[in-house]
Amino acid sequence: MNLENKIEELFSCTTGQYGDEYFQAFDEFKAALNEGQIRAAEPSATGWKVNTWVKKGILLGFRIGKIVPMPDRPSQTAATAEESQFRDKHTYPLKQIPVEQNVRVVPGGSSIRDGCYIGKGVVCMPPMYVNVGAYVDDGTLIDSHALVGSCAQIGKRVHLSAAAQIGGVLEPVGALPVIIEDDVLVGGNCGVYEGTVVGQGAVLGAGTVLTGSTPVYDLVRDAVYRRDGEQPLTIPAGAVVVPGARAVTRGRGKEWGLSLYTPVIIKYRDEKTDQAVRLEELLR
Ligand SMILES: CC(C)(COP(=O)(O)OP(=O)(O)OC[C@H]1O[C@@H](n2cnc3c(N)ncnc32)[C@H](O)[C@@H]1OP(=O)(O)O)[C@@H](O)C(=O)NCCC(=O)NCCS
Repeated sequence: MNLENKIEELFSCTTGQYGDEYFQAFDEFKAALNEGQIRAAEPSATGWKVNTWVKKGILLGFRIGKIVPMPDRPSQTAATAEESQFRDKHTYPLKQIPVEQNVRVVPGGSSIRDGCYIGKGVVCMPPMYVNVGAYVDDGTLIDSHALVGSCAQIGKRVHLSAAAQIGGVLEPVGALPVIIEDDVLVGGNCGVYEGTVVGQGAVLGAGTVLTGSTPVYDLVRDAVYRRDGEQPLTIPAGAVVVPGARAVTRGRGKEWGLSLYTPVIIKYRDEKTDQAVRLEELLR
């Protein structure tokens, strides 16, 4: 039986008794996640497609895991781990990243959970957190206080700026996780949640927040983008989005002169934008 069918079978069985076959299948599954061979979502001819079985496998890991003291360093012994305050499911320890990957995890309060993919040359500035099921492709920078939530898919050469929050989407298993495509800049203090897709090369200006319920106004193409049924909110490639406001036009909101936060596409990326977001290569 292939891994997908095995995971589906084990996930559907809810006896509460977990024999060796569960842990063997989960170990194989988690190794494939760590290697980036399987992903919670992947590009297809018609856009991004969710791999429901992969999300089920991740949930299975939580179901079968026992809460144990967690070492915060691989070298820590069981005895010293016992004294630490860290506790988590034994199925999700810290991820081990081979030195050959050229990944930098700068010391200082960061954590990368097992069962996620970290590509070559990724730089992780402390403190930051990458959750299970996430996929972070080559050359991406994860700056301080940034979160890569469960199953989020981050492309190549993405810059997740300080305090950028990429929300996790684990349940429901059919829901698309957040997707940040190649060469995107997510500015400081941004939040991207609920399966939003940010197209290649887009720029989210500092403080932009995108959720499944947020309409995005495109001043250049005279269009409004929203989530539509199964179709996620999608930011077009190269769009430059900044935080804006729109007037409330009815009821008390109008009377009180209120406005609501709304992201606005003010332009599409040009040379000036490239200059504004260029990374300092020497730091790499
Ligand atoms: C979006 C950003 C990259 C600017 O892009 P740009 O292409 O240089 O933008 P421009 O200067 O050409 O501005 C175009 C218009 O948008 C407005 N604008 C630009 N950035 C804006 C912002 N963040 N919020 C509101 N309006 C903004 C400008 O005032 C200008 O309007 P105008 O034509 O009416 O004067 C920049 O504002 C930004 O947010 N950078 C990210 C900073 C950051 O988080 N760095 C991370 C470090 S860890």
